[in-house]
Amino acid sequence: MAQAKKSIAKALKSVDLVVEVLDARMPPASANPLVEELRLTRQRPVLKVLNKSDLADPAVTKSWLQSFRAQDNLFAVEVCSKHKSDVRNLIREARKQVPHRSDAIKPLRMMVMGVPNVGKSTLLNAILGRSVAKAADEPAVTRSVSRYDLDEKTIIYDSPGLMWSKLDSRENAYALAVNNAIGVNAYVPEEVAVFLAEKLRLFYANRIFDRYGFDSSNLDANDILQKIGNIRGARIKGDEIDLERSANILLTDYRKGKLGRITIQVPN
Ligand code: G4P
Repeated sequence: MAQAKKSIAKALKSVDLVVEVLDARMPPASANPLVEELRLTRQRPVLKVLNKSDLADPAVTKSWLQSFRAQDNLFAVEVCSKHKSDVRNLIREARKQVPHRSDAIKPLRMMVMGVPNVGKSTLLNAILGRSVAKAADEPAVTRSVSRYDLDEKTIIYDSPGLMWSKLDSRENAYALAVNNAIGVNAYVPEEVAVFLAEKLRLFYANRIFDRYGFDSSNLDANDILQKIGNIRGARIKGDEIDLERSANILLTDYRKGKLGRITIQVPN
């Protein structure tokens, strides 16, 4: 990581705009504070890209955009990397923010940054219209900054993959686990499902009703998991509910989009 930090810091000297890719379903959990630290050191503006917006709750995405745009030197767009028009819009937005870098003599230089699984490779490939970036499982230490010329007015730098910041906040760690960003062996499904059930209970109670057919207004998150297990016949022996199976039912339903478009983290 120290090596990655060094090479990013060096490359930022000749970068006009940092493009920080976030997962629209969990912007705080998918941010690495190093991005903010490095770009502030160099006083570079940032374009926050709320990627995977096709999976996120559109109303909450709007709130995130508003809260980001209210800050200095900070711009934000929502994107589905699989939609060409969104990707074109991102480039337009980037150009708008740095109008003085718009020709072959002074091309716009952007650096794309993001933690694993936010969709950085998918986005880069979509921007460049060809497959240059692999799904980022390579350790950051082995990679340096790569340069791609989009056209004569636009240079894109791909930063080495950043890792998640220390998973010291339960909220962030669970959000990453819910969204399948960290390996299944790194968490306990029941705990993560309880976290998800709590978010659903608070913000999306109607989705629980629509999917499982019960009213969750007087239930806590553990009860919700029990109830899902009961309805889906997840029992160990006799009447005891198999909570691990219940957890996996809820997590799988969520990840397959069966509960609709949901954002796990909302702005304050
Ligand atoms: P990374 O470089 O940041 O690690 O992420 P990567 O591009 O590998 O994307 C991680 C997963 O997220 C991939 O799914 C990719 O298809 C998906 N993804 C990226 N952007 C978007 C988006 O805007 N919307 C949606 N719905 N998905 C997106 P995967 O299942 O791991 O691989 P694949 O089978 O789709 O290729």
